[in-house]
Amino acid sequence: VHMPKAVVVIFGATGDLAKRKLYPSIYRLYQNGKIGEEFAVVGVARRQWTNEVFRENVESSVRKAISCSEKLHDFTSHFYYHPFDVTNPSSYHDLRSLLNDLDGKYKTEGNRIFYLAMAPEFFGTIANSLKDYGLKDTGGWTRLVIEKPFGHDLASAKKLNEEIRAAFDEEQIYRIDHYLGKEMVQNIEVIRFANAIFEHLWNNRFISNIQITSSESLGVEERASYYEKSGALRDMVQNHMLQMVSLLAMEPPIKLTTEEIRSEKIKVLRALRPIKEEEVSKYFVRGQYGKGTVKGEKVKGYREETNVDEKSNTETFVAGKIMIDNYRWAGVPFYIRTGKRMAEKSTKIVVEFKDIPMNLYFKNKDENRPNLLIIHIQPDEGITLHLNAKKVRTGSIATPIKLSYNNNGIDGMNTPEAYEKLLYDCMLGDATNFTHWDEVALSWAYVDPISNAWAKENGDFPNYKAGSMGPKAADELLAKDGFHWWPVTNDEK
Ligand code: BG6
Repeated sequence: VHMPKAVVVIFGATGDLAKRKLYPSIYRLYQNGKIGEEFAVVGVARRQWTNEVFRENVESSVRKAISCSEKLHDFTSHFYYHPFDVTNPSSYHDLRSLLNDLDGKYKTEGNRIFYLAMAPEFFGTIANSLKDYGLKDTGGWTRLVIEKPFGHDLASAKKLNEEIRAAFDEEQIYRIDHYLGKEMVQNIEVIRFANAIFEHLWNNRFISNIQITSSESLGVEERASYYEKSGALRDMVQNHMLQMVSLLAMEPPIKLTTEEIRSEKIKVLRALRPIKEEEVSKYFVRGQYGKGTVKGEKVKGYREETNVDEKSNTETFVAGKIMIDNYRWAGVPFYIRTGKRMAEKSTKIVVEFKDIPMNLYFKNKDENRPNLLIIHIQPDEGITLHLNAKKVRTGSIATPIKLSYNNNGIDGMNTPEAYEKLLYDCMLGDATNFTHWDEVALSWAYVDPISNAWAKENGDFPNYKAGSMGPKAADELLAKDGFHWWPVTNDEK
């Protein structure tokens, strides 16, 4: 197997994301033999750390995330720290000579990943300085990995993209959406296109609606200063939720190449029915949590959280009805909901099929149970198919049954972390599970009128209790169409 060789430069090396996700995932790549000895990691941040302090930090963050008994010394010896000032030319000069040294020492052939895990206001400056000070012309490949938020709306995203594109080509830019690294999100495509029984039914003739729920039990934690300006729509819908919609709705790609898959996803985003500012309330519902009880523990309301405005108008919950105006999906609503401080941490997709034309087997007419295909994204990973079958030892009476498949049962192992897969893909130069600029632009264009409408009026907040599944209005959104949310958390069952 071809093992990638590269120096990974992490901007924001002392930050939360680097510690929680990046170091553990690099360790897993190393441990699993995906990378060998020909790699180095350079941590870059403002703090004046030494290599030793950095290595200790890396070691403790790996240990926190993964249980490992071995000594990590061999691993952390590949880590170097470089104190850095984003706007100071000498920072880049020094970094350049360090990278050149490491290229030689670890035989990485000039391959470099620049991973921007830090405040987005510096993305443009860093990208351009990397070019101007000669850090990206190495004879090897160089790639730029960018964390969200990618802009705040379409205009700011465009500006940011232009700045970055002045230094890097689209093919060199890897925009992270960590949902695309999740095992079961990647599985959507396989379930759809590797089975003869689904694809023929996967359209408006047989599917009545699709529901995507991504609920979280946590609140805003220490991220209030970011979240206050973002809210659930920008934080979850513009990226993760619309990505899942496009994977569920796309046409089969003609080949499994980055370009073909992306172009099918982009077509879905282009077919989203635009929502006008004045009709937002017909399609979207926002919520903000008040105090309540989550898993038996009493918690504060959003407005009482540290660093949150006591009159905050930020939504911590969104439910929406998304229509896709194309031949396959005309008339089929895609309902989404996501929020903080809900009953449970759970991401699930429910595909609801249309009813049978006539009920022969259910005693009670209303008891007709539609077939459901449930894709469990997290915490459990698998699929469940809800069918109807004869109730044992009765006459012809139907009863709902379930066929289930659970990922974790197969090899007893945790599925790899999303970041591990994405980082590895990036090293291999596979951008399939990263977002193309067109996807970013189209999803902002979709979301902008909604946030504009919401910015103009104060929400009637708080409107859902912490620990619940969101405001009433989210249920009414489906009830208007004759549907209801299928329970996806234990609390709802
Ligand atoms: C992030 C959001 O993108 O996704 C967070 O910024 C959110 O607010 C997180 O908690 C959810 O990701 P996951 O993988 O825990 O479902």
